[in-house]
Amino acid sequence: MTTNEITDLLTEAYVDELETVMNYLTNAIVLDGVHAEEVKTSLEADVQEELEHARMLGERLKQLDEAPPGSESFEANQHSLQPPEDTTDVQSVIEGVLEAEDDAIETYRALHEAASEANDPVTEDVAVTILADEEAHHTEFRGFQKEFPQD
Ligand SMILES: [Fe+2]
Ligand SMILES: [Fe+2]
Repeated sequence: MTTNEITDLLTEAYVDELETVMNYLTNAIVLDGVHAEEVKTSLEADVQEELEHARMLGERLKQLDEAPPGSESFEANQHSLQPPEDTTDVQSVIEGVLEAEDDAIETYRALHEAASEANDPVTEDVAVTILADEEAHHTEFRGFQKEFPQD
């Protein structure tokens, strides 16, 4: 059975994925320098995955007789993922990505828990599938972070 908590989390996650698409795409375009290349390539690949996440969430909302929102209800949250003034500041983007992936992991864990409690195995499956991708993204950027140790 579906609950408001489930549809609220699906909607929140849908909007977050689209904000992530915008910020990953922008950072993949704007970063400069030899240290940026691997990060840019990774961000570009992740843009496609995050877009696919939004599609899965939107389709699940539709199946639950709800609809994903348009941009009018959009509120930006990813302050730490704004493109850096210094376009060689790859480290700030890495930190922003880690924060965004942490937030996503938290959201999909909450979605999984709500779906499990509501006996909604299809939404549970969506949550677990996306959660696995977000954990992989997090691991990849933790690797990049090790290359750029904070002082
Ligand atoms: Fe995602
Ligand atoms: Fe991700």
